[in-house]
This record gives sequence, C-alpha cells and structure tokens, in this order.
Amino acid sequence: MTTKTGRNTCLVNSTPGAPLGVNVVGYGYYLPNEVITNHDLAGMVDTSDQWILERTGIRSRHRAAKEQATSDLAIAAALPALERANITPAELDTIIVATATPDSPVPAVSCVVQAGLRAHNAAAMDVGAGCSGFLFALHTAACFVRAGAAHRVLVVGAETLTRVTDYGDRRSCILFGDGAGAAVVTSPEAGAESTTPRSSDGLELLYSALGTDGEMASLIEIPAGGSRSPASEATIRDREHYLRLDGQAVFRQAVRRMAEAARDALDATGLKAGDIDWILPHQANARIVTAVAEQVGVPTERAMLDMAETGNTSAASIPITLGRARESGQLAAGQIILMLAFGAGLTWACQVWRVRE
Ligand SMILES: CC(C)(COP(=O)(O)OP(=O)(O)OC[C@H]1O[C@@H](n2cnc3c(N)ncnc32)[C@H](O)[C@@H]1OP(=O)(O)O)[C@@H](O)C(=O)NCCC(=O)NCCS
Repeated sequence: MTTKTGRNTCLVNSTPGAPLGVNVVGYGYYLPNEVITNHDLAGMVDTSDQWILERTGIRSRHRAAKEQATSDLAIAAALPALERANITPAELDTIIVATATPDSPVPAVSCVVQAGLRAHNAAAMDVGAGCSGFLFALHTAACFVRAGAAHRVLVVGAETLTRVTDYGDRRSCILFGDGAGAAVVTSPEAGAESTTPRSSDGLELLYSALGTDGEMASLIEIPAGGSRSPASEATIRDREHYLRLDGQAVFRQAVRRMAEAARDALDATGLKAGDIDWILPHQANARIVTAVAEQVGVPTERAMLDMAETGNTSAASIPITLGRARESGQLAAGQIILMLAFGAGLTWACQVWRVRE
C-alpha cells in the first residue's frame, strides 16, 4: 500500500510490518584523513573543547583535502558498498546522490559519480533534502524498485560541509564535518540473480515516510549563490555563501519532528517501542538524539551516538553511522533499526529496516 496524506509520503505494506520488497545488500562509508579537533576550533573562535563536547557530543570532525570534491568522497564510499554487495558498477541501473554541497551547481554530483565509477548503464540524479537527504534518496530508490523501474540502485549521501562553514561563526562552525556513505538497494529478485553476496550486510525495508515544512526554510539556509541572490562581491563580503542556522529553533524542531515521525512509524507497522533494537538517527547533536529516544520510549543506550569523531555530516551521517555500527559489531540478524532524519527544508524522514539472516 502506498499512501499520501498531507505533507507525508509513506510506504508501508498492507500487512503492517511485512517487508516492502526493497533490500539493502551492501553499504560502506568514507571519511577524509584530515581531522579538525575542538582545540583547533578554539584557536579560531571564542569557544572551548568543554563547551562543544557538553553542548553537542562532538570532539572532532573530518575535513576533505583541498583537491577532494563531494564526488570524490561519494565514489570512495560507493566502492566498498558495491564490493560488499558483489555488484559491479556496470550492473547498476540508477545512481542517486543526496547532497547539499555539490561539486558545482551543474552538473549533478551523481553524474560525476557515474563517470568516476564507470557505471555506464546507470541513470543518475541528485536529491536535495538537507540532512534528511540520504533517507529521501533511499525512499526514492525504494519507490523505483517497487515500481519495477529499477533493480540495482546505488544511493549515496556525500557532503563537504566544511566548504560552506563560516569559521568566524562559533554557533555553527563547531558542528560540521565532511564524509560520505553509500548503500546498494535491490529488489529481492535482483539480489538473488547476482552472484553470491560477499557480505552479511542485508537489510529489508519495512516502512518509509518523508515529511516537509517549507514555511520554516529560513531556519537553516545558505542565503546567496543561487538564483535569488547570485554570488557577488557584496554577498561574499556579507558571508552569505555560508550555512546559517538558528540553533535553538532547529534543535526544538529536530526533536519534535523526529519523535513524531517515529511514533507514526510505530503506529503504521504495529511495532512497539520495545521492539526497536536500534534508533539510528541523523548525527546532529547528542542531546537531540537522547531527547528523541526518551520521547519515543526507547532506552537511550539503544540510540546510536556516533558524532564524537565525525560531527554533523548532513546527508552522509546516517550511512556513515550504519557502516561504523557494523564494524563495531552492533548489528545482528533479526534486529529492527529505526532510522530518523531531520534537516534543512525543513525536512524529516523515518524508515524501519530489519537486519536479514
Ligand atoms: C548550535 C547548538 C549546539 C547551540 O547550543 P545551544 O545550547 O542551543 O546554545 P545557544 O545557542 O542557546 O547559546 C547559549 C550560549 O552559548 C554561546 N555559544 C554559542 N556557541 C558557542 C560556542 N561554540 N562556544 C561557546 N559559547 C557558545 C551563545 O553565545 C550563548 O551565549 P549567551 O547566553 O551569552 O548569549 C544547538 O542549538 C544545536 O545543536 N542545534 C541544532 C543544530 C543542528 O544540528 N543543525 C543542523 C541541521 S540538523
């Protein structure tokens, strides 16, 4: 059953909690080598390691090298995801990249990724939904796969946020880092057709919903550099090509929207809070994650906290956290993972996945 109510687009099986016929068969991530610590930032603006750690849960974040663009990070994350899925780039039919920091306005980053991977048989497009972008892209891939329009989709969340971060603004520069994460999405049939998967990365989708409130768009924005206010000497002087956010308002909205989205997911799937093994939220701020878990009624130790060494990597944060959870042995067959995202737009999203046997 596909429903569309108000500002919410939703995929859920008519038998609540049953799989939707959309699988992830491999995932991976990439973090650039260079690290910016809280102490480094304290040398640039009036802040301290203690303030940043207490208010956000972040100790350090990664920064792309000068010669690295978003597409380079995306490709570096896609390669291990494809390898674990045991799918070659030529077998992909679709590539979707979620990003707020494209290499350039034109072309889409996904086209650069398609060329870099030599994925000649794939159509490519970008999705822009801020920090919710990865789940919006996964939802799009799920709809393509369920419609029979695609069979092997590479979904990437990739960001070079440090390129749009104002290192003169202590309220925002402490938050952001660079990175990328990727997942290969298939129908169960396409997964079975391919040669034996190399990994135990299997996830099956049980529920996916997206929401948007464009009336609150000004809470997180890059004011200049687009058609409303093209880049000029004045916009650069006024630092309008950097990301601005109203931290407190964003914080409140993030908690409210993600908690509501999680409760909607539980209602639609018939799952109880006690059935959730992991909440895997966008890694914006440790206090946001804890507040969401408390409101949903899931013990906070079951909410993945992975921003200490990565910061907020926007559309990349969920697949990076997923990859790092696998590496640290947190995932086991049969577990239920509730993914939650919130970001510029405003946008939010919720997906429920089961780890396959
Ligand atoms: C940005 C954020 C960490 C700020 O934390 P906060 O607890 O809301 O802090 P406030 O903005 O209320 O500021 C409190 C005080 O700390 C100060 N402050 C702000 N940033 C600071 C910093 N880096 N170091 C030291 N002091 C700082 C403020 O100036 C303010 O001082 P004042 O009371 O004298 O005016 C927090 O609001 C947040 O994480 N919001 C969500 C942002 C986000 O994730 N956005 C991405 C999209 S999902």
